[in-house]
Amino acid sequence: MSARPRVEVMHGVNLDQLGRRDPALYGTLTLAELERRIEREAGELNLAARFFQSNHEGAFVERLHALREDADAVVLNPGAWTHYAWAIRDALEIAALPAVEVHLSNIQTREPWRRVSVIADLCLASISGHGADGYGEALLMLRDELGDPS
Ligand code: DQA
Repeated sequence: MSARPRVEVMHGVNLDQLGRRDPALYGTLTLAELERRIEREAGELNLAARFFQSNHEGAFVERLHALREDADAVVLNPGAWTHYAWAIRDALEIAALPAVEVHLSNIQTREPWRRVSVIADLCLASISGHGADGYGEALLMLRDELGDPS
């Protein structure tokens, strides 16, 4: 059996505060709990998940720069950076990997400024408002895109 496809799951600014943020919008899981759930779901899909979180835009950009060597696909929730961080968009373009954008809350039904995503057109899909389930949906899309190596 060949190696499992590697999916980098990236969380941006303030996502390390899950569990303390409004549960009506973001659910009750901490980031560690969310990552354990995503890791289990990735395993069930024969994918190897790896995780990254930063509150520093430059660190997030540099992780994206390194991804070409380290990952086959990326799931990303950049938090508020989604709405204005053009440097993250450029870095995602440089990474040139299949990508799916995930948001726990529904960014289309909140404040008008959240409706803009500067990364959406670089992603296979933008999943928003499905809570933690959105990550499983993103992994499934990427597994279908990459193909099952087994
Ligand atoms: C978020 C939505 C963003 O607008 C917000 O700034 C976040 C989290 C989400 O997962 O719903 O930090 O990306």
